[in-house]
Amino acid sequence: MKVELPTGLVMAVEEAGDSLPLLLIHGFPLNRSMWSEQLAELSREARCIAPDLRGFGETGTGGLHGIDQYADDMAELLEVLGVQRAVVCGLSMGGYVALSMWKRHPMLVHAMVLADTKAGADTSEGKSKRDELIALTQREGVNALAAQQLPGMLGKTSRSENPELVERVRDILESAPEAGVIGALQAMRDRHDSTAILSSVQVPTLVIVGEEDALTPVKEARSMFDAMPGSRLEIIPGAGHLSSMERPRDFNQAVGSFLSTLVGS
Ligand code: MLT
Repeated sequence: MKVELPTGLVMAVEEAGDSLPLLLIHGFPLNRSMWSEQLAELSREARCIAPDLRGFGETGTGGLHGIDQYADDMAELLEVLGVQRAVVCGLSMGGYVALSMWKRHPMLVHAMVLADTKAGADTSEGKSKRDELIALTQREGVNALAAQQLPGMLGKTSRSENPELVERVRDILESAPEAGVIGALQAMRDRHDSTAILSSVQVPTLVIVGEEDALTPVKEARSMFDAMPGSRLEIIPGAGHLSSMERPRDFNQAVGSFLSTLVGS
C-alpha cells in the first residue's frame, strides 16, 4: 500500500500480521522486497511493517536525503499507521537509520535489532569511496554500481551455492532509482558517528551479523554488543552481509526468539 506522510512524501509500505509492531528498514541499495521471508514468517508473531525508504522502491524521492531524514520519515510513518512504539530492525544502512531513530525519537523505539551494521561514521577513505560511487553512478548508471556492490554483499557460501539469490539481489540492485542511490550515498558519507550513543541504549537490543559479512564484519557487531549493556549477539553461520536473505530461517529464529522476550514489556 501507499501512505502519504505529513511532509507530503508518498511512501510504499508492506504490512503483514498484527500484535507487536516490527519496523523492518532495508539496506542500501535495496528496497522492502528484501524482507519477504521475514514478512512471511515473523508476521505470525508480529505486525511487520516494511517500507521503501525515500528514493527507493516505489517511494517518492522528495528532496534532500540524510540518515536523520530517513529516521524522521520512519517516525512519521509510525505516526500515520497509529503505532506508538515499534521494535526497530534495520540491516546495514537500515541500522544507521535505527540508531538515528533511537537518538531522535527514542519514545518510538520499543527495542532494536541491528543487523550487519555498525555505529561508526565513514573514515576519510570511506568518504572518498562514496564520492567515487556517486561519480560512477552518474557516469555509467545504476547497473555499474550494482556490479561493484554485489560481490561484497553476499557471503562466499551464498555466492558459490545460491545462484538464485545472487540473481535476486542483482535484480533488486539494478532496479534502484538513480536519484535514491545518489541521495543514500551522500547520506551515508555524511552520517554522524553513533558510537557514543550506544551506551545510552536502554531498550532491549539484538545485534545480528553474518559470519561471512565482509562489509560490516563480526568485529563491528561485537564492538556494538560490548558497548550496549544487556544487548544480545547472534552470529549467523554461512551468511554474509545480507544475513536476513542468505539465511532467513536462522535470522527469523533469532529475531523470533528475541521478540518472545519482549511480550508484555
Ligand atoms: C548497506 O548494505 O546498507 C551498505 O553496505 C551500508 C554501507 O555502505 O555503509
